[in-house]
Amino acid sequence: MKKALYPGTFDPITLGHIDIIERALHLFDEVTIAIATSEAKTPLFSLEQRIDQIETIFKGNKNVRAIGFTGLVVDLAKEEETNVLIRGLRAVSDFEYEFQLANMNRAMSPDLESVFLTPKAKFSFLSSTLVREIASMGGQLSAFVDPTVEEALKKRFKD
Ligand code: COA
Repeated sequence: MKKALYPGTFDPITLGHIDIIERALHLFDEVTIAIATSEAKTPLFSLEQRIDQIETIFKGNKNVRAIGFTGLVVDLAKEEETNVLIRGLRAVSDFEYEFQLANMNRAMSPDLESVFLTPKAKFSFLSSTLVREIASMGGQLSAFVDPTVEEALKKRFKD
């Protein structure tokens, strides 16, 4: 069985992330979404909330799992017995950071392969930060996030 890990902060998961996951499922039998605590980013949603949201979105799809993690992604890949990391490349501007991340991960774990997938062009401008900002100002979210996340954002900013 070909397994892949898709790490990220997912605060919150967007339609762009979901597009990457659907593409990864064309290549791998199982995709594990690895949600980093990313405390330095002071996430809007707790790790449990982010896991819940992703589990709700992929409910019924046995080939997608969501787990939380702290620590190095290379250690998690070993624990999960996979040597594939999926990352999304939205635009050229993502490349430098992703290249650095992939090479640092390879330096620590030479057999780990980073696989880069590109989302649909309409998601190439999307980011979780912009989604949070639009939500905080009461903007329309349905083009950017799943209804589960839309509801969670509305609830979070209702006051
Ligand atoms: N659609 C929409 N947005 C996307 C996207 C897509 N397809 N792909 C990436 N993004 C956005 C995210 O929403 C996020 O936006 P934000 O910064 O505005 O919140 C941004 O791109 C990057 O986020 P993400 O993909 O979640 O990555 P990250 O940089 O937050 O997390 C980790 C990267 C968690 C994978 C990395 O920090 C990590 O591996 N951490 C573990 C510790 C470790 O091993 N460190 C050593 C690394 S060498």
